Amino acid sequence: MTISGKAKLAGVMGWPIGHSRSPRLHGYWLARYGVDGAYVPLAVAPERAEQAIRALPALGFRGCNVTVPLKEIAFRTVDRLDPVARRMGAVNTIVVDGDGALVGGNTDGFGFLENLKAGCPDWSAESGPAVVVGAGGAARAVVVALLDAGAPEVRLINRTAARAEELAADLGPDLAGTVTVVDWVSRETALDGAALLVNTTTQGMGGQPALDLRLDALPVSALVNDIVYVPLETPLLAAARARGNRVVDGIGMLLHQARPGFAAWFGVEPEVTPEMTRFVLEG
Ligand code: ATR
Repeated sequence: MTISGKAKLAGVMGWPIGHSRSPRLHGYWLARYGVDGAYVPLAVAPERAEQAIRALPALGFRGCNVTVPLKEIAFRTVDRLDPVARRMGAVNTIVVDGDGALVGGNTDGFGFLENLKAGCPDWSAESGPAVVVGAGGAARAVVVALLDAGAPEVRLINRTAARAEELAADLGPDLAGTVTVVDWVSRETALDGAALLVNTTTQGMGGQPALDLRLDALPVSALVNDIVYVPLETPLLAAARARGNRVVDGIGMLLHQARPGFAAWFGVEPEVTPEMTRFVLEG
């Protein structure tokens, strides 16, 4: 592949960055749409992230994605925040505007909702209570997205109750729906009457134990989603499928969260195609 002198530039900043699937994902779209552009991995240590982010306009970058562990540093560094990023306290997409200012957005919640819509078109956030397992950055994006989309109630369960309480206290007052915290010891009670169950923890990822959650109390009508995508079929999704629940895997969240950045930097609204899952995961 050659990069022309006129190529539009973007990338993904993180530490480490070698395992990021984003260069492959954006490379797929650049080729598909014949864009003269390049999307590169940017390995930036946390202590140099502010400096690297501020240098983007001088280097001619149109912006970049930001991944673990730099999303909060990006949040503090950009010149302006969009309202979603402001509520999430984290930035995963930076766009350099016409005046060279850094605008921070967060598309993780958008990617999460688009993935559910694509995988299960008749599901709606308004259908009923949602149960979210976990209280890290991914959980925050998921909870904000669900409440913005009209979920009447989000029930949070997390091994460390204090983190769930903190998340609920942070988000609750701003938003229409209610956020409740259910203790880890009695976590299965949160599943009663739920319309959606989402795992945002690392449990079930390749090499990690399965999420320790019995599904007996979950209605068979509920949709089950895991934001883990390696493997695509986590033990949680396999157990949910076996008892008759509809399931949506996590890879689509990665694919869909990338769309707004690609559109802003490269000027094409990209489409998520079925073949992308294999292409992105096999790289
Ligand atoms: P991210 O920002 O990607 O969401 P994180 O902040 O590291 O990642 O959060 C990981 C989540 O997985 C947390 O909710 C964590 O629970 P704690 O808050 O109790 O740490 C959850 N998690 C990690 N290991 C777990 C385990 N063995 N059992 C249950 N939950 C676990």
